[in-house]
Amino acid sequence: MFILGIESSCDDTSAAILKDNCLLSNVTASQSVHEMYGGVVPELASRAHQQNIVPVVDAALKKANVSLSDLNAIAFTRGPGLLGSLIVGTSFAKGLALGLNIPIVDVNHLQAHVMAHFITEPDVKPHIPAFPFLCLLVSGGNSQIILVNAYNDMQILGQTIDDAAGEAFDKCAKVMNLPYPGGPVIDKLAKEGNPYAFQFARPNIQGFDYSFSGLKTSFLYAIRDAKLSDPDFVEHHKCDLCASLQYTVVDILMRKVDKAVRQTGIRRLAVAGGVSANSALRKAFIDYGEKHNTEIFIPKFSYTTDNAAMVGIVGYYKYLDRDFCDFGLPPFARTTIK
Ligand code: KG4
Repeated sequence: MFILGIESSCDDTSAAILKDNCLLSNVTASQSVHEMYGGVVPELASRAHQQNIVPVVDAALKKANVSLSDLNAIAFTRGPGLLGSLIVGTSFAKGLALGLNIPIVDVNHLQAHVMAHFITEPDVKPHIPAFPFLCLLVSGGNSQIILVNAYNDMQILGQTIDDAAGEAFDKCAKVMNLPYPGGPVIDKLAKEGNPYAFQFARPNIQGFDYSFSGLKTSFLYAIRDAKLSDPDFVEHHKCDLCASLQYTVVDILMRKVDKAVRQTGIRRLAVAGGVSANSALRKAFIDYGEKHNTEIFIPKFSYTTDNAAMVGIVGYYKYLDRDFCDFGLPPFARTTIK
């Protein structure tokens, strides 16, 4: 069976073709239009999706050597995300599926991030977690620890009560006048810095929940105070600031992950979402696995940030269950995981 996956929840227009659970192509057009604003501008994002969606789907089909008439279903991100952006992918999926007379499958974006671990590729030995497993989902908008019982049975054990981990990276980067998104830049600069140079506030939150707004505020104040005596403080200490911030974020994330592993007794641990591209977090997972006899699942870089391959794989599993979507269903901006 051939599935076309479409992702348009934020600022990446992406299309993927899967043959069953095997990825044949995954084409993404990122939107540079937001760079000068230091963040995603929703109206510009939806307009760029409109421009990108036809060429991106066309390129994915050509790369996979699949024609429209081969498709069995179209899976699309229904939410959560920016409503204007979601409308483009949702409307396109519906229109194309009506024209081809095939079913559509609605996909939850957060569920898709977790399910990225189930994508297989030709000639690559699959490394797929068995159920149940724990997944740390960390992106620009979410930080959650999820107990995954099945592809369609996910329970959030804990989540951020304010900022997300990626948001903390992005906002602190802005204070340092680094480009958007800040996460990848901080990751790069941190490699040259001392992670113990500065100490920032750590949250003290019950259960498995996270908080990053205190860390962000203490980072901001530390810079503001230091600038009083050294106006070029950030320039002089950029790498140390990045390394210390990254060290703190990863430590905050891993403490709750460790708590979840201990309390559930589940020794299969995955990480997903844009922040799972972070080199220190990836290393922390590998180290944790070795130290605590836990099986670790780290996504390929191309599956960390928003992509249609992860939408297609959810589409595949829902297709097997004949879990199709009504053509009248609208996209949704906010929700939790299914
Ligand atoms: O999952 P994603 O592409 O978008 C959503 O939020 O849905 O995640 C984007 C986030 C941004 O906050 C970005 O700064 C962060 O992922 N990010 C990173 C790295 N690469 C992307 N954060 C830390 N280190 C990275 N290498």
